[in-house]
Amino acid sequence: MGITNDLFPISRSEDEDCNLAYAPFDVPRTEVSLYDDPLKIMPAWLMFTQFMRLLDAPHPVSFSDEAQRGQHLFSQIGCALCHTPSFKTPGMANPQGPSQEIGPHVVALRGKTVNLYSDLLVHHMGATLADNIVQGDAGPDEFRTTPLWGLGTRLFLLHDGRTSDLLVAIRDHYSAFGWSVGLFMFTGAALCCVEVWRYARDLPIRLRGAEWRFLLPDTKLLQVIFLKGLPMGLHMLVFTFSGLVMVGLVNRAGIDVTAAYGIAQQLWTYVQMPAMAIGTAVSAMAAQNIGANRWDRVGAITRSGVGINIILTTVMVALILLFDRPLFALFVGGNSPAIPIARHIQLIGSWSFIIFGITLVVFSTVRANGAVYPPLIILVMSVLVGRIGFAALLLPRYGTDVLWWSFPIGSAISLGLGLIYYRFGGWREKRLIDQFAEEEATELSYATAEPGGRLNPNG
Ligand code: HEC
Repeated sequence: MGITNDLFPISRSEDEDCNLAYAPFDVPRTEVSLYDDPLKIMPAWLMFTQFMRLLDAPHPVSFSDEAQRGQHLFSQIGCALCHTPSFKTPGMANPQGPSQEIGPHVVALRGKTVNLYSDLLVHHMGATLADNIVQGDAGPDEFRTTPLWGLGTRLFLLHDGRTSDLLVAIRDHYSAFGWSVGLFMFTGAALCCVEVWRYARDLPIRLRGAEWRFLLPDTKLLQVIFLKGLPMGLHMLVFTFSGLVMVGLVNRAGIDVTAAYGIAQQLWTYVQMPAMAIGTAVSAMAAQNIGANRWDRVGAITRSGVGINIILTTVMVALILLFDRPLFALFVGGNSPAIPIARHIQLIGSWSFIIFGITLVVFSTVRANGAVYPPLIILVMSVLVGRIGFAALLLPRYGTDVLWWSFPIGSAISLGLGLIYYRFGGWREKRLIDQFAEEEATELSYATAEPGGRLNPNG
């Protein structure tokens, strides 16, 4: 059993051949009176196992509304994928024939529903839980899903009893490695599918023959990508950082406000989608026209981008405000105290994404000509100084509403600064990379028209 104590100093190995120690047995078999007693013939550990096996299962207390919501969430977010809520033991309680006698030897344990919250399987749990001990088939980071029944009565949690805090136990399931492996496998599979599709349909953008050399990185381009990509990466960092600070501030306001903010953030991800897509499109179109020196079109593209974005984002915001109740109920159940708070947050904060979208389109245009640092500086000023500064300064005096107002205020600052830069900044004079010489461009455009290399738009 791998357990030793003063009485049984030699542990048993998993390899039966190595087991020199006899299974712990607390009663000498030589005494006739004990030898004839079948119960006493069992080794102590076996009696203990039988005792445990036949103990009644833990009974859950009756569920409050809140607990039912938790139970629902538990399945919804995927905990139940491993912590399977219930199983039925095989066989039936009163077997009529041998075919029905499959299942545990003890009749009392046949055909029972057990709500154990475990799949009884081992899973890779990643670096946070790994103990680097290999046992049987279970690797260094593999553990059997702990049944969660009776969890409320446990003092220490996880295989090493590292904590008695339930939240820590749940958080320690997270493994950055597992997450990235999952993401890697998912994107890898998606990429393979896209490639197969491209070649199957023989789309013009598939690589063939000499075109494979396009995969070789061009140092000049790499330099541009690095120089221009770095500030865009920093952009994400500013957003993530401000998001963390915001969560920190919101968390102090209590659990209902935190839940409400969580819902608001989920919905805002969708509200921002049109702006992101339009921003990317504007950037690509502006870049092509800047390359072709058609500045007249660049202004028109930006204006249409802004127009389309205002319409789409306004529709999104309106939809969310109109159908807020059923939408929020999807996240937290119909009668959660978080719902009125979430509506309040939406009313104050969500329209700021219309302004945010305009800024995004304007930034996309200036970035298309390589002006990447000014948008970053404007972002730092509006988000870190304007929004977070405003929220942190006024929060103690005016309460949580300040947090929601910080969104429109931050967006307004960045739009103001963004428009000033768009109108008066020198971004139009920049050059992203040297333009092709005129003859070279003509040559390149003929190259694709030759029979061998003709584009093949049959997709
Ligand atoms: C990939 C499968 C898997 C998923 C998904 C999963 N768990 Fe676990 N869970 C495990 C394993 C395996 C253990 C045992 C880990 C250990 O002992 O170190 C465990 C242990 C636990 C424990 C500690 C129990 C104890 O007594 O030690 C809790 C609490 C828990 N899980 C809750 C959750 C919650 C809540 C979720 C959803 C957010 C979840 N689990 C999702 C596999 C999983």
